[in-house]
Amino acid sequence: MGPPGAGKGTQAAVLARDLGLAHLATGDILRNETAAGSPVGLKAKTFMEAGRLVPDDVMTQLVGEYVVKAAKANGFVLDGYPRTLPQADALQALLEGASIVLTAVVNLEVPEEVIVARLANRQTCPKDQRTYHPVNNPPGKPGVCDACGSALVTRNDDSEAVVRNRLRVYRESTAPLVEFYKKQGLLKSVDGLAAIPKIVLAIKGILDEAQTAGPDSGRGTGRGETP
Ligand code: AP5
Ligand code: MG
Repeated sequence: MGPPGAGKGTQAAVLARDLGLAHLATGDILRNETAAGSPVGLKAKTFMEAGRLVPDDVMTQLVGEYVVKAAKANGFVLDGYPRTLPQADALQALLEGASIVLTAVVNLEVPEEVIVARLANRQTCPKDQRTYHPVNNPPGKPGVCDACGSALVTRNDDSEAVVRNRLRVYRESTAPLVEFYKKQGLLKSVDGLAAIPKIVLAIKGILDEAQTAGPDSGRGTGRGETP
């Protein structure tokens, strides 16, 4: 979890690579659906361009399909979902249905003024959705994705006006989840202002601890594996 630009995608991509997990990023999935012109992509497009949340029922159906597939494989990092209290309830039901116990929710903390500057300079690969920053996380060759060689672009929801709206939506709809997961003893907050490799280490430490403590340490049902 974390506000727009907190570094969710940056961190999730590294964790997925290092731990051999699928990276389920709802924003990336929606952008791919939009580019493909699918019905769900077309429905999501106007919400995303305005920095508003795509309706809960659409998101839950979409995530459900991916969670079921990923649960059968090696596990997954979930990035950008849940973002509302109804989505958190839906996720719990989905995980229970797949016999997966939630033992940690990682929350990246970054102040709003830093976010606006970060996103104004973000560069994104339109093909594999990797994100870069000219100073904080530069690609090897300026303007080109390290992984696939595509020309990097600016996401069309990274204009200052849309970023400010995304931050407002985060405060109103998503920030309450911090308290929701804190009350369940699942929330693990991390300083999102630290250097990228330092945050990676902190999150890996949290995941190791959660795994060692086992599923009964959270609000788990005692069934299945730690996601
Ligand atoms: P989504 O794509 O998830 O956007 P977001 O939450 O706004 O988050 P971002 O992807 O912008 O930021 P990030 O935290 O991944 O940061 P990043 O790692 O790129 O969602 C887009 C839209 O889809 C939503 O607005 C909504 O419409 C819809 N949507 C998605 N999920 C939904 C849901 N569940 N329900 C309803 N609607 C949904 O990093 C940002 C920049 O900072 C990069 O340039 C990076 O290089 C740099 N950076 C990263 N870490 C650091 C660091 N530690 N120090 C310095 N720079 C850093
Ligand atoms: Mg992202």
